[in-house]
Amino acid sequence: MKFLCIYGSTNGRTRIVAQRLLKSVDIKIDAVDIKGISLQVFKTYSHIIWLVPTYGDEELQEDIEKFIITQKNHLHKFHYSVCECGNYSGYDAFNFGPHQILRSYFANLGCAEFYDGVSIDCLPKVDWETFDRWCKGLNAVIGDGKNERP
Ligand SMILES: Cc1cc2nc3c(=O)[nH]c(=O)nc-3n(C[C@H](O)[C@H](O)[C@H](O)COP(=O)(O)O)c2cc1C
Repeated sequence: MKFLCIYGSTNGRTRIVAQRLLKSVDIKIDAVDIKGISLQVFKTYSHIIWLVPTYGDEELQEDIEKFIITQKNHLHKFHYSVCECGNYSGYDAFNFGPHQILRSYFANLGCAEFYDGVSIDCLPKVDWETFDRWCKGLNAVIGDGKNERP
């Protein structure tokens, strides 16, 4: 089981969330911005944690969208989890953006969600409390050793 965090970040907030994730998990996880990603990583890692900002109208951040469409062949049969970062204060639109889009997209590629996704409010400030709780749950799942590649 090898874990990789892939994030997209147009304005830098999600990069900070990725750094926090690396500090919050009990095992070594690497993190890469999808903009500079090497396709080799898909031969090395079995589990991908996606940190995806919501842009436009509940849509994927552009680098992530471009990548999953053009490099779809590399995304078969992975375990994954999604943390979508957005602006939810005052709205009830949790789980309508990247999480929902990716869940259906990855299901068609034979991928399995190994840990429930989460929506984190990141604007105007990051809801660290929710994120830390999600990381705690992630640690429990990572620690149970039941995550073989699908
Ligand atoms: C132009 C723009 C459009 C956005 N659209 C949405 C949206 O539709 N839904 C949402 O929840 N958040 C939306 N957001 C909030 C971003 O997802 C949030 O600020 C996120 O943390 C940005 O991540 P980044 O700084 O890593 O690029 C939008 C932000 C901007 C600047």
